[in-house]
Amino acid sequence: MIELRNVTKLYGTTVALNGISIRVAEGELCVLIGPSGCGKSTTLRLVNRLVEPTSGEIFLDGKPVRSFVPETLRRGIGYVIQSIGLLPHMTVEQNIGIVPKLLGWDMERREKRASELLELVGLDPPAYREKYPSQLSGGEAQRIGVARALAADPPVLLMDEPFGAVDPLNREAIQDEFASIQRKLRKTVVFVTHDLDEAVRLADHVVVMKDGVVVQEGAPEHILEQPSNDFVQDFVGSDRVLKRLSRFSVEDHTEQGEPVPLPAGSAGRSYITPLSENPVRPVWKVDPSGLLLGLSVPGDDQLFHPPEPFWVHPSSNLREALALMLYLHVSHLPVVDEHRKFIGEVTAAQIYAITRRGVGHGA
Ligand SMILES: Nc1ncnc2c1ncn2[C@@H]1O[C@H](COP(=O)(O)OP(=O)(O)O)[C@@H](O)[C@H]1O
Ligand SMILES: [Mg+2]
Repeated sequence: MIELRNVTKLYGTTVALNGISIRVAEGELCVLIGPSGCGKSTTLRLVNRLVEPTSGEIFLDGKPVRSFVPETLRRGIGYVIQSIGLLPHMTVEQNIGIVPKLLGWDMERREKRASELLELVGLDPPAYREKYPSQLSGGEAQRIGVARALAADPPVLLMDEPFGAVDPLNREAIQDEFASIQRKLRKTVVFVTHDLDEAVRLADHVVVMKDGVVVQEGAPEHILEQPSNDFVQDFVGSDRVLKRLSRFSVEDHTEQGEPVPLPAGSAGRSYITPLSENPVRPVWKVDPSGLLLGLSVPGDDQLFHPPEPFWVHPSSNLREALALMLYLHVSHLPVVDEHRKFIGEVTAAQIYAITRRGVGHGA
């Protein structure tokens, strides 16, 4: 969908990009990551022709971008930047409607679209439609920025550190929301960040850049597993094993487990001994309808209720599962659905097996 072919960009004598080649497949979220000044923003701006290359060629859906009138090109590409650029004298609804208006949509269609998009980015349409940018928090303004970029339903989104100015707590929430929007819409996205956690949370494909060249690219879990050189190794950090675990879902690593129904009305008692020094496989006790009650250890029918929540959901990741195991001092966790119905278990042994595969370069 997007291709940069052997692109060099000089600003005077500064080499911003040095013969870079990148391909982004349709529907893929590609993250460009690297230290400040490595050429991420320049790469992004070449795609919508805010910057012209010194040499090399950029293609959008197989056509050279220089064959488009820049304004037409930009209307077909959503662009979200850190400083948002909401127009202060326009309401939220009018800001979202800027590109649709340029495209000649009538008022009714623009208003309907603005409501849909506010809903999509998690803001209540009646409460936000008429607000002005100065009445929004940083996180809300950033959500409006995303809504505006999506307004005319462009197939391509360019995002330059879009959540960089949002405080850490809100940033995670907005990242999760954007990830779920992207799962629905499947846009082709090029996303610039210098935040590795953000890249790991969002990316299908990561391109690590340094001094205007690509130093490594691949799936995040692959780069975390095998940094190709010392630069990437330092960049991903010594906790890369943990970061990598967040790319694996509980759902994909749920084992059968051993649910045993307790007769209705049987009494249980409080949890006393953690299983850490006793790495036996627990017997999960469920009620006759399959809801998890607690556990017992083999050979002892005593029902234990660990402090809650002592379970994980299929949508959790293995990093979260490991954190809970460490917190509870246990080596097995039950996996339950949202009604607490027993599904299976995840085990420390599985997690260790995955981390062993991830030792890689120099570790
Ligand atoms: N408009 C410009 N004029 C001169 N130099 C620029 C301009 N834009 C970027 N640069 C230089 O090009 C290099 C890459 O910049 P940029 O793409 O913004 O990096 P990043 O987004 O990775 O921080 C840097 O050395 C930067 O100083
Ligand atoms: Mg930049």
